[in-house]
Amino acid sequence: MEVVSFFSAKGGTGKTTFNLLFASYLSYICKKRVLMLDFDGPEYNALLTRKRELAVNKDVDEKELYPLEMVNDRSINSVNSLAKRLDALKEHIDYVIMDFGGSFEPTDAVCQMAKAKVLDTVVIPVEMDGMAISSAKSLAKVFQSFGQRTILFFNKVHGKEKPELYEALDEWFAKNDLNISKNRVKMAISLKRDSDSDGMFLRSSICFPKKDIKAINPAIINLFDEVVGYEGQEQRQDAKSGD
Ligand SMILES: Nc1ncnc2c1ncn2[C@@H]1O[C@H](COP(=O)(O)OP(=O)(O)OP(=O)(O)O)[C@@H](O)[C@H]1O
Ligand SMILES: [Mg+2]
Repeated sequence: MEVVSFFSAKGGTGKTTFNLLFASYLSYICKKRVLMLDFDGPEYNALLTRKRELAVNKDVDEKELYPLEMVNDRSINSVNSLAKRLDALKEHIDYVIMDFGGSFEPTDAVCQMAKAKVLDTVVIPVEMDGMAISSAKSLAKVFQSFGQRTILFFNKVHGKEKPELYEALDEWFAKNDLNISKNRVKMAISLKRDSDSDGMFLRSSICFPKKDIKAINPAIINLFDEVVGYEGQEQRQDAKSGD
């Protein structure tokens, strides 16, 4: 079992969007057993997305979907009991995806999960901006110090930046022993929209919008494969040939 979270200590960087897409990719494309946990109260955006989708897609049977649960207690005891629960589930679940709010205080669940070494991989969306880059670097260092595998990636890329800028930043991250992905995700209007022309949510928790995502930006799929590794790619080939 792998515990993964797209997380950054900034608001609005794409955490929930990518956690939902990644969970759906793993579940519906890679056919993995997924559990998604939404820690980001009081809004619980991931859970809200699921509820909205079920409300407009009445024919979908919730039991066929990966479970998406809210976790609303931040106390250390609840982190310990969650860790125990996950331990008991490890033979039954391949991936646990955790969506947190954009803060990294000692009392925040994400901080506790990191300290307790419950998280295996943290994927940090970074916007192309000096402050965002330096705060992402500090955050990645903290996760690394707790033993987490950490991948950073540029999100909401405009594509107007000079390629040399990315090369220089790649070098800078490498010098700091940090793993910055080559898969840069462009700013895509369709990722902002709630639904596509079929009324299906792009940040969907009930299906993976294959066609649209490929058209929007293949870097998203490549990034997901990078997070999953070799095994995920094989599974995707299987899923594709079964289409
Ligand atoms: N690559 C992208 N292109 C265009 N829009 C994007 C992209 N990534 C994320 N967004 C948009 O940015 C906004 C914030 O995304 P999201 O809610 O996933 O961020 P978040 O980090 O979870 O925010 P919060 O801190 O409030 O939980 C959303 O409108 C989302 O659609
Ligand atoms: Mg969010």
